[in-house]
Amino acid sequence: MNHLQPGDRIAVLTSGGDAPGMNAAVRAVVAVGVSLGFEVLGVRWGYQGLLDGDFMPLDVRAVDDWTRRGGSELGSSRCPAFREAQTRAQALRVMRDHGVRGLVVIGGDGSLSGAHALAQDQLGMAQAICVIGIPASIDNDIGRTSLAIGVDTALNTIVEACDRIADTASSHARTFIIEVMGRECGYLAMAGAVAAGADAVLYREAQLGDDELLDQLEAMVMRAYDPLHPRRRVLVIKSEGVHMPVDELKRRLDERLTANGRPVDTRVTVLGHIVRGGSPSAQDRIIAARLGHAAVRALQRGMTDAMPGWQASLVAAAAPIPFDMDPYVTFWPLAEVLAETRDISAGVSEIAQWRVRLLHEVAPFLGG
Ligand code: F6P
Repeated sequence: MNHLQPGDRIAVLTSGGDAPGMNAAVRAVVAVGVSLGFEVLGVRWGYQGLLDGDFMPLDVRAVDDWTRRGGSELGSSRCPAFREAQTRAQALRVMRDHGVRGLVVIGGDGSLSGAHALAQDQLGMAQAICVIGIPASIDNDIGRTSLAIGVDTALNTIVEACDRIADTASSHARTFIIEVMGRECGYLAMAGAVAAGADAVLYREAQLGDDELLDQLEAMVMRAYDPLHPRRRVLVIKSEGVHMPVDELKRRLDERLTANGRPVDTRVTVLGHIVRGGSPSAQDRIIAARLGHAAVRALQRGMTDAMPGWQASLVAAAAPIPFDMDPYVTFWPLAEVLAETRDISAGVSEIAQWRVRLLHEVAPFLGG
């Protein structure tokens, strides 16, 4: 193992779509890194900054107040060129030139893939630069972690938005279709629907065809506006990953309801990037701090090609927990993380299928 020593230099970057809590994770990396005697460099604009040598020294003063800030203070980017081995070789050269011994990558699927590839490129090399990934993505589509940084804040934002929409919807007895982010994974829609007391949720993992989806929606709205017991409002949460565009969904639903003699007033709201911004929740700040802490401790031990996952269930400790270990955090090889992430996107992972089963079971009881 390639243990890091006080005086060694580590770097931290945020990559891919920003997620609330990324800054809190960077701050934790800096605070823990500095306390262990490391020099910490922040990399601006994700992997692109690594290629350009766009580094800034970070001390605790520099990241003062970052815990509560949304977005990414370092800046983030998507860097498709990082899929190329020669691009990553350049990044390794730049890091070596700057004396970097360890790297923390905070981001989602693509970012963790880049981290894994960087670690793999160095297999067998002496003095390899250790690489640890930290899961951050509002979509909660990353394997081997029960929550990624940003998910909790995004859910709180969705719930707040739905509560506001419910006020106006019930004032006019309207039906709202609310679209939330989640290109590859319907978690935000599913969990958001339960938390907001929505009446229905549409998510790609259900794998419904257009007609089947509309049949279910039509039946639900017809029931909701039963003249004997009409609902004051109907909220439908649609995940971005459901391929039918939300305006088309509204138009086709309206046509069916009109044909049934029940022309309901429907509206559409796309929450979009609003869900990604904002000050992180307490939960996200805490997860970020704990994963940041774990990541630096892992680098110190010379660990590489791994990710600390956040487990909701506390593993009963048989022995006293060492001070530098977190019982809620488990390290996973990045290859395993990425394999499960792919399965989550394809809807075939155990966890994705369990979510669908659970949603089927609770679907009849959704609603206020
Ligand atoms: O980070 C994932 C995600 O939030 C997806 O749910 C969404 O489709 C995408 O980001 C949007 O990305 P961009 O900000 O690049 O448009």
